[in-house]
Amino acid sequence: MDEKQQRLNAIAAPLLAWYDVHKRTLPWRGTRDPYRVWVSEIMLQQTRVAAVIPYYERWMVELPDVAALAYAEEERLMKLWQGLGYYSRARNLQRAARTILSDYGGVFPRTYEELIRLSGVGDYTAGAIASIAFDQCVPAVDGNALRIVARVADIREDIMDPKVRRTFRTMVAEAMPKERPGAYNQALMDLGATVCLPNGEPDCARCPVSHLCAAHAGGVEELLPLRRKKAKRRIESMTVYLMLREGKVALRKRPEEGLLAGLWEFPHVSGALEDAEAGWPVEAWGLKTVDWRQKLQAKHIFTHVEWHMTGYLLDVRGEAPDFFWADAEALEQLAVPSAFGKFLSEVRRCLDGGPMAEQGG
Ligand code: ADE
Repeated sequence: MDEKQQRLNAIAAPLLAWYDVHKRTLPWRGTRDPYRVWVSEIMLQQTRVAAVIPYYERWMVELPDVAALAYAEEERLMKLWQGLGYYSRARNLQRAARTILSDYGGVFPRTYEELIRLSGVGDYTAGAIASIAFDQCVPAVDGNALRIVARVADIREDIMDPKVRRTFRTMVAEAMPKERPGAYNQALMDLGATVCLPNGEPDCARCPVSHLCAAHAGGVEELLPLRRKKAKRRIESMTVYLMLREGKVALRKRPEEGLLAGLWEFPHVSGALEDAEAGWPVEAWGLKTVDWRQKLQAKHIFTHVEWHMTGYLLDVRGEAPDFFWADAEALEQLAVPSAFGKFLSEVRRCLDGGPMAEQGG
C-alpha cells in the first residue's frame, strides 16, 4: 500500500474519537430517518449549516415525510425553499419523493446504487444517505473531505479534476472503518468545517490528526488543496421594473425551464437602461407611467453568472394582462427568488403604506 493511503488510513481512529467528543449538535443528527438525512444533505449543498437550520426545521414541520413531500403543492414547496437558492434542488426532491412512492412502495431505498438513481441525488448525497441512515460502507466526499485528504496525504493535484476526485473517493472508501461509516463521513465534514478550514486558515493546534498530517509536517497545509482557477462569471445587466398600481405590484412567472424556473419575478428587460430610455418597456407592456419614485441598484451572484440590476420603482396605470398584480398579502405567498430581495423589501414598504407610499400619484 502506498504511503499516502497509509496516512489516510491512520487518521480514522483518532478522527472518530475526536468526533465522539466534538461533533456538532445539529437538528438532523440523532436520527437515522433517511428522509431527514436526505433533505438535510440537499439543503446543505451550497448553503452553510447555520443558514440551513431554520429552513430544515420549518420543512420538517410542514413536510414530515416522503408522502407529504410528494403531494405538496408547488407554490408551498417553493415558499419553503425561498432563500436557499437553486430551486431545482427542491423540485428534484419532490420528483424523487414521487419515485419513492411509485417505484419503492413508499419505502426509502437503502443501497447506494438505488439512491443515486433518484432525481438530484449524486455520488456525495447517495454516499451520505447510505452511510448515515443505513450504515453502508460508502464514502461521501464533499469539499471538506477533499481538503482533508489533500492535506493529510499531501496530494498536490487539482481537486477540480474528476479523475483526481475519483482517486480521492477510492482512497476514502479504503480508509473508512467498516463499523462506523456514517460517523466517519460526518467526522470528515465536521473536521473540515470547524478545524481543517479552507483559505489558509487551518487550526492545526486543535486538530486531532495534525501529527499524522503530511502537509502539516511539510508546512504546506495552507497551500493545499490545489484548485485550478474557476472560469470567470458572465455578467448580465438588466433593468427591473417595480410597477405599483392601486396598492399592488406587477409580477410575472418565469418560464418552466432554466434558471429559477417557475418562480415569480418583477418584469425586467436586458441591459441597464438610463433614465431617458427607461420608460419604453413600460409603454410596450401597455402601461402608462404616472410617477417615477426611486432608482435602485442591486447585484446577485449565481454560480456561473452575475446579475447587475438597475431597478425603477414607479407608479403606473393601465391594463397589462400578462402580469399578476399582487397586494402585500399575495406577495408573501409567492416564491420570489432572493436575487430580487433588495427590490422586494422596497416594494413591501410601498405596499404596506410605509414612508414611500405617501409620495406616489
Ligand atoms: N454538511 C453537509 N452534510 C453535513 C452533515 N450531515 N453534517 C454536517 N455538515 C454537513
